[in-house]
Amino acid sequence: MDLLLEGKRALVTGSSKGIGEKIAKVLAEEGAIVLVHGRNDKDAKRVAEDIRENGGKAFIAVGDLNTDEGAKKVADAALTLLGGIDILVNNAGTYFSRGWNNTMSEQWAEIYNTNVISMVRMIQLLTPQMKELAWGRIILVGSAFGQYPGQIVPDYSATKGATNTLTVSLAKELAGTGITVNTVSPGPIATDNLYNLMLDTAKMLDWGTTDLSDIKERFLEGPMKNPTGRLGKVEEVANLISFISSPLSDFINGSNLRIDGGYVPTVN
Ligand SMILES: NC(=O)c1ccc[n+]([C@@H]2O[C@H](COP(=O)([O-])OP(=O)(O)OC[C@H]3O[C@@H](n4cnc5c(N)ncnc54)[C@H](OP(=O)(O)O)[C@@H]3O)[C@@H](O)[C@H]2O)c1
Repeated sequence: MDLLLEGKRALVTGSSKGIGEKIAKVLAEEGAIVLVHGRNDKDAKRVAEDIRENGGKAFIAVGDLNTDEGAKKVADAALTLLGGIDILVNNAGTYFSRGWNNTMSEQWAEIYNTNVISMVRMIQLLTPQMKELAWGRIILVGSAFGQYPGQIVPDYSATKGATNTLTVSLAKELAGTGITVNTVSPGPIATDNLYNLMLDTAKMLDWGTTDLSDIKERFLEGPMKNPTGRLGKVEEVANLISFISSPLSDFINGSNLRIDGGYVPTVN
């Protein structure tokens, strides 16, 4: 299937590693010109070089999306280096295993800033230019924990619940502009950071082991149990996001698309 992404310009926030790195790479394989983003110049350069070595087109933008200045720097890079963007994938985000008793009020506020307000900043900076194009894609990376939270990451789950409501509200705000807005909500996806979360949680809950394969098994029987019986792969999320980025998905709007192996046990 041709996703018709040739020449489309995509900014993937937080694409210096993890899920975002794969999203950037798959979009580039589909012909999009990609702006790789992270806070760290070295990681972003590595991903962009990989893309170019494989025949794709990539540039980098570095900036901390926790601040207005950092976000503006990234949006300015998108406008200068690519002349604008057609696809904004708001993927940058973070999560920690610290539980209800060890998460202080400033930490609740900080993770809300990183996971929610960072996305709002990029949306506010880039939608005026997308409106001029009369076509665009805004994709927010949420989480299955936003719909079906457990006990382990309450602050994170709350931010991902917010992602779902932002999406519906923004889709209404952008009615008739040609821009669609969707959330993609992954279940547990194998990334280095997820493995760190698992190790920290095992310690926090006193599981009595530091063996990652034991801990992973316990997660899949407990807090991340899902009918497929495994973790998801970054390419599975990247493939779905590429489809949502495509002009073929013009009628998918204001949705929350789950990619969680069936982790969320409800009809929708
Ligand atoms: N892995 C999972 O199981 C899973 C499941 C559901 C949803 N998600 C969501 O998927 C997204 C990516 O997760 P991941 O597992 O791939 O995490 P990751 O490997 O830690 O990657 C996070 C990315 O976000 C960037 N980032 C973090 N804070 C930032 C900030 N303040 N400003 C700019 N960039 C920032 C990081 O950039 P630097 O490294 O350069 O700082 C990095 O590129 C997150 O939104 C996460 O909530 C993940």
